[in-house]
Amino acid sequence: MSDQPDFDDLDTDYDRFLPLLQGADDGLLAALKAVPESGRVLDLACGVGEPAVTLARQRPDLRLTGIDISETQIAAARARATQLGIDGVRFEVMSMDALELDTGSVDAVMSRMGALMMGDPARTAREAARVLTPGGRLAVAVWGTLDMHAAMRLGLRCLESVLPAEEVPDFSAFDRLAAAGVRDGVLREAGLTAVESHTLRWTFERADFESWWSFVLSIPGPMQDAFRRLDQDALSRARRTMAELAAPCRRRDGSYAFPMGCQLLSGRV
Ligand SMILES: C[S@@+](CC[C@H](N)C(=O)[O-])C[C@H]1O[C@@H](n2cnc3c(N)ncnc32)[C@H](O)[C@@H]1O
Repeated sequence: MSDQPDFDDLDTDYDRFLPLLQGADDGLLAALKAVPESGRVLDLACGVGEPAVTLARQRPDLRLTGIDISETQIAAARARATQLGIDGVRFEVMSMDALELDTGSVDAVMSRMGALMMGDPARTAREAARVLTPGGRLAVAVWGTLDMHAAMRLGLRCLESVLPAEEVPDFSAFDRLAAAGVRDGVLREAGLTAVESHTLRWTFERADFESWWSFVLSIPGPMQDAFRRLDQDALSRARRTMAELAAPCRRRDGSYAFPMGCQLLSGRV
């Protein structure tokens, strides 16, 4: 997707996004249950090491490699795995669009909010198909339509409440890429079979309104850039809009539970 943030800049601060993304793990990792004992699993665009580290905890028998194009993210992944006492995952700086791995060398390829979203999806899919061994599986979680992503959807509505329409960032690519047949088509063209697309749903919890608002403002990319350009008055009005929009997700104790969703694409070679 264009306008992708520079993950070299995010450093280990990216950890703050893990609670948002881990809701996708159950569905994503369930799609890889059939990976054989001691199987080799490749995590594309693993960032600070997910979901490779989570899978390593569940399946210590697997031989896991996480790759990411950002040196900063890979350094953070190595440090984080060490801190968590995980030593069974290799982390390498590598592009998922040009994998430095042998053909037919892995039993499964997985990715969470990386493959088919960042880089060149067609090249990533061809590379994933190439490195999978015959019968190998692919499972990729990607953001679906904008309405499934509460933080982006509500954040953009706040901007709409204070900016002229032409100054609100255009996120229509989110919906175009998530349309039926688009990403599954990319996988089929790359040679994957039994391609399926499912919706994963979970709840993202925040202790109070302030932590939700600061989370929305911390999402790097064009939405954050637009928030940063607002003057103090416009930002206060946007915040009030968010308080109204978030009210249905407020629980009795003052905490919030936001419905989240993404797409899970799966297939095999
Ligand atoms: C949204 S983060 C997801 C990180 C991790 N999978 C997670 O779920 O926490 C996307 C990651 O894609 C990486 N990335 C972007 N383009 C890439 C490419 N061509 N090859 C490999 N990684 C890439 C970024 O550096 C970033 O770490």
